[in-house]
Amino acid sequence: MKGIILAGGSATRLHPATLVVSKQLLPVNDKPMIYYPLSVLMLIGVRDILIISTPADVPRFESLLGDGSQLGLRIDYAVQDEPGGIAQAFTIGADHIGNDSVALILGDNIFHGTAFSDLLLEKSKDVRGCVLFGSEVRDPERYGIAEIDASGRLLSIEEKPASPRSNLAITGLYFYDNDVVDITKNLRPSPRGELEISDVNQVYLSRGQANLVVLGRGFAWLDTGTPTSLLQAGHYVQTMEERQGVRIACLEEIALRMGFIDADACYRLGVRMSSSGYGRYVMDLARSAGLSASLS
Ligand code: G1P
Repeated sequence: MKGIILAGGSATRLHPATLVVSKQLLPVNDKPMIYYPLSVLMLIGVRDILIISTPADVPRFESLLGDGSQLGLRIDYAVQDEPGGIAQAFTIGADHIGNDSVALILGDNIFHGTAFSDLLLEKSKDVRGCVLFGSEVRDPERYGIAEIDASGRLLSIEEKPASPRSNLAITGLYFYDNDVVDITKNLRPSPRGELEISDVNQVYLSRGQANLVVLGRGFAWLDTGTPTSLLQAGHYVQTMEERQGVRIACLEEIALRMGFIDADACYRLGVRMSSSGYGRYVMDLARSAGLSASLS
């Protein structure tokens, strides 16, 4: 499975904070926002990742994450010249996807919950059609909305409906089989001139191949779209991290635990940031995983 992170857009609801820098580079507590969606892909074992952003921001993501090799990943970059809709990720990323399945995650989506990685691992295996993830929200008119029947079967998908049929929002994490490339090629742009992700999902739904996984109560899917929600997301992460003493979306930790890098490599990544709590956390993890004699 290949991975794509879409980190474009102009985030006008966060102006002036995002006038000169991408929203997905803003900090959520102790780390840049893009760490959160990147950690989700890493937890599924996806190591070949394309980051799509604006011409101005691609170089900034590149200086943050490089080619990914320090984390045992391969990260490539592509430019989305104009906001053309989320599904444009599959036309821009067609070569990257090749003949594989793909996990797309929006660069501003933060997920946190018990056993999330187990769930993702199970659902990302042998994807047929698409797998969507639903989560309850208070303001459904802002999202793609799923309607389900009593057995949890998906009945309809509507993008930002004026009269929502449910509170179940479709989150910004999507798994697709390889048909998504052809489906998107044949998709007509919406009246706004964009390739809408909900239209792609609609095609899968009409084929009877759209699966929805509901993330239940107690699962956190956090919004970062406004100054208030961004701050709340930071507080959430800070509260969990302080209380438990473990970090959410620590890329070095995930790379180490997934076996993408060894303890020595992890330690060296931590040393570069040893003035911060995050850096020292990474160094401690590496120490407990067992450093070679030259570093211990
Ligand atoms: C997009 C999608 C929407 C989805 C949301 C999740 O909306 O179009 O279906 O529910 O992401 O974050 P946007 O946030 O781009 O308005």
